Amino acid sequence: DETPSAALPQMGFNNWNSTHCRAEFDEAMIRGIADKFISLGLRDAGYQYVNIDDCWANWQRDKDGRLQPNPKRFPSGIAALADYIHERGLKFGLYSSAGTSTCEPLQENRGFPGGLGHEKEDAKTFASWHVDYLKYDNCNNQKIDAKKRYTAMAEALRNSGRQIFYSMCEWGENKPWLWAGKDPVDAGSWRTTGDISDNYASMLKIFKENVVLDKYASLGHWNDPDMLEVGNGGMTDVEYRSHFSLWSIMAAPLLIGTDLRTIKPDALKILLNKDVIAIDQDPLGVQGKQVRDADGIHVIVKPLKDGGRAVAVFNEGDKAKAVTVTAAEIGLKAGGSYTMRDLWAHTDAKGDGSIKTTLGPHATVMYRISQ
Ligand code: GLA
Repeated sequence: DETPSAALPQMGFNNWNSTHCRAEFDEAMIRGIADKFISLGLRDAGYQYVNIDDCWANWQRDKDGRLQPNPKRFPSGIAALADYIHERGLKFGLYSSAGTSTCEPLQENRGFPGGLGHEKEDAKTFASWHVDYLKYDNCNNQKIDAKKRYTAMAEALRNSGRQIFYSMCEWGENKPWLWAGKDPVDAGSWRTTGDISDNYASMLKIFKENVVLDKYASLGHWNDPDMLEVGNGGMTDVEYRSHFSLWSIMAAPLLIGTDLRTIKPDALKILLNKDVIAIDQDPLGVQGKQVRDADGIHVIVKPLKDGGRAVAVFNEGDKAKAVTVTAAEIGLKAGGSYTMRDLWAHTDAKGDGSIKTTLGPHATVMYRISQ
């Protein structure tokens, strides 16, 4: 009963959080990122997708109605970029919107062409460029029913002749967790919240919105609380460790949002924590469940394929706190004997399944508990 790795939460990179639409976002940058996947050990750690976001396209479709890239940013074309990425054993993702144009520029009456009404031809174009992943946004949607718009692209991707991962981005506005994982949409993931920004308050807000949706996630169908900010400089390392721990125990997509060409060693160490990644990628495919949310302390428990459990204990508040979590709260029998691995210290200890710790402000401890 092997779990296909394609059904696990997607791991990779997306340029949006680090560059937005600035001119530095171009093919040289994205090739550099793909190279870093290999030289920094990210590919070996499981990161697979190199994805590009908004502002890759030209203002107009070509004379045959096909999307085309901005010739300044991507002079060699999208297919050449996809091939470069494939040659390195990685996969390539592209962006569009289920609207008449994409999200940027926000004001002005011109925009980059969106997919609404062009689903079939655009999906064919993506397939011809060897695209492996589509992030499909929600701007300029003309108030047409979301399910209708997202179904049209889902079907077009299925009929495109290529396997293309479908990442829906309608910001949780139409409760996609209720319908996007099922036929006829069958999306790989759907955003559950608005956009993350690189600060603790934003990360905390999004965590709280996403953590209560655990029962709607399953293998191949994940809640997406947006991309990682680890490494972008707006949070402390303690906060970034919490961010990475919480996203992993929520079985969230792990999409790196920092420029890997200039990443600092401390941030890279967080993104390469294989003990934590293994929790995100556990083949049982269950999103962790919040079993305590009281006094600013959050306890999240995720059952694992080997019968064990991952536990994250997070202190959202600004003061250090002593916390005890009982074995019963984690769902373990009292009086048992367990191996308790601390996933940030990488140490094993024998224990009875309970956790006693003092957590600094905004800090998280994470354990893997096995029989
Ligand atoms: C929306 C999405 C973001 C990003 C931008 C691009 O805000 O939610 O993730 O793709 O559009 O314009």
